[in-house]
Amino acid sequence: MCGIFGYVGDRNASQILMQGLKDLEYRGYDSWGIAIANNGTINVIKRKGEISKAEDLCLEGRIGIAHTRWATHGVPSDINAHPHISYDGALAIVHNGIITNFEALRERLLKEEYKFSSDTDSEVLVNLIHSKMNDVGLLEATQAALTEVEGSYAIAVLSANHDYVVLAKKESPFLIGVGNDEMFFASDIMPMLDYTKKVITLHDGDTAVLTQNSFEVFNSDSKVTRSATSVPWSKKEAELGNFAHYMQKEIHEQERTIQEALRQPAETLEAICSSLKNAERIFITAEGTSLNAGMVFDLLLSEKGYMTKCLRASELRHHKNQITQDSVVVAVSQSGETADLISALKDIKEKNPKVVSILNRVGSHVEQLSDHVIYIKAGPEIGVASTKAYTGQIAVMYLLAGNLNGSLDETRSLLLSTAEKVHNILAESESEISRIVEELKGQRDFYFIGKGINHATALEAALKLKEISYIHAEGFAGGELKHGPLALIEKGVPVVVIAPKDSTYQDIISNAHEAKTRGAAIIGVSSETHTLFDYFVKIPENHSTIYPITSVVPLQYLAYKMAVALGKNPDKPRNLAKSVTVK
Ligand code: M6R
Repeated sequence: MCGIFGYVGDRNASQILMQGLKDLEYRGYDSWGIAIANNGTINVIKRKGEISKAEDLCLEGRIGIAHTRWATHGVPSDINAHPHISYDGALAIVHNGIITNFEALRERLLKEEYKFSSDTDSEVLVNLIHSKMNDVGLLEATQAALTEVEGSYAIAVLSANHDYVVLAKKESPFLIGVGNDEMFFASDIMPMLDYTKKVITLHDGDTAVLTQNSFEVFNSDSKVTRSATSVPWSKKEAELGNFAHYMQKEIHEQERTIQEALRQPAETLEAICSSLKNAERIFITAEGTSLNAGMVFDLLLSEKGYMTKCLRASELRHHKNQITQDSVVVAVSQSGETADLISALKDIKEKNPKVVSILNRVGSHVEQLSDHVIYIKAGPEIGVASTKAYTGQIAVMYLLAGNLNGSLDETRSLLLSTAEKVHNILAESESEISRIVEELKGQRDFYFIGKGINHATALEAALKLKEISYIHAEGFAGGELKHGPLALIEKGVPVVVIAPKDSTYQDIISNAHEAKTRGAAIIGVSSETHTLFDYFVKIPENHSTIYPITSVVPLQYLAYKMAVALGKNPDKPRNLAKSVTVK
């Protein structure tokens, strides 16, 4: 989604901003731009297309704002790219989010003789702020304008005539980075990591004034205190190193990241488990890959007799009447900024359940809405397709389940031994995965089946394949096949069968039979081959591993290799963004 970065300090702002925009590229964008204030004027450069194709830019000035845009209102173009300036060039704005009543505001401003050159809601907003500047300062004008605005925003407003910027946030992530005699702000920690780890997370309804060495935050017209968090990430962790893509790097990092996920303070585990134990009902909610991990937790808890329900965050509100103050809602998210999840948590707030979050990023909006947080500590995940966050989430879920069960030490050892096997799983499956890719890359559809806890793996593996290779892929519970999907199977259609030697083995093999009889090409994921399998992806023996981790790793790799073989960039799939911060 769109990215914001900004600077107020002593250094050349344009150079800092251009580097920062490159650090935001991974979020997905179609255009970019920067605006620098200098000697009473604002200079703007903005373009459709890739930042890496931009010539080295060096504008004079020490205060500026920058943006990567992912089109919502108005097509990708130079004109629709941010920053947007007020009709007279006195103000510039960068904006993430959507102003839903922008058309009515635009009509009104047109009558007041404002002029517009783009189709965007953001250009309306900067002119609306301008229209409020008669007798008041930039902060008051921004606050007044925002009272008329409906929708979501993180905005930074730059003025030709002031040596500070004004920020505002509602339902879109926004952070301030406190440097040494310089200040930064961004929608995402990544561009700030070169300069500071001291970060302040703005809350909904906050406005802020940022100078080179101070910041003031206001909410509902009063000054408020927002304390800084230290972000435990480094820029080095986000370097590609010798890998061709971030997704490849992140798949290979899982041995280490699963181990990191296991380093949890006993008191955090205890506090969360005590809430879970006392819950009348547990709701697990998330989107995408995090939802698939949530399905694993759902089964782990329900096996232990807990009343659980796993729901897509965008659907949680339809089940709101079941949630009470004795419920626990477990929110799972890599970014902690997924709009559907944030909106779901706000929606159920009136029911007053306890909210426990399983997160990767520190200082997120979901964190603000939670009673307890456990971090998976996977470090920055840059690839749009989530991999190491998924296995980190699952590791933490097993740890919590182990703690609930009184078998924390055994669970930790099992997870450690699983982590140690990641390297071998990848090495040993490499040639078979290459064969599958080579022979099946022309297929239009792939189906994945699994049962019980392996159903989540089927869904996750299908999600990985479809989002980066654009091959149609679906995951099913094995038993579902004959209730419909079997009609899709014909000669040569690939069916990936998740068949670890656990209690689901016989049933899933019998489902594989059903598919094979209709001509499917069977790709078996198991510790032992079977006569049904046309392709065999070997995973370790069952007794010492956690299947939702060992089975998914080679399938992440299959998706990665398929995307590369088809000439797609797995790190930047079309139409997708790393954090989905709009509903
Ligand atoms: O940051 P989150 O975990 O909340 O993100 C949820 C989904 O948007 C995310 O998992 C998405 O489905 C990924 N592209 C999957 O690889």
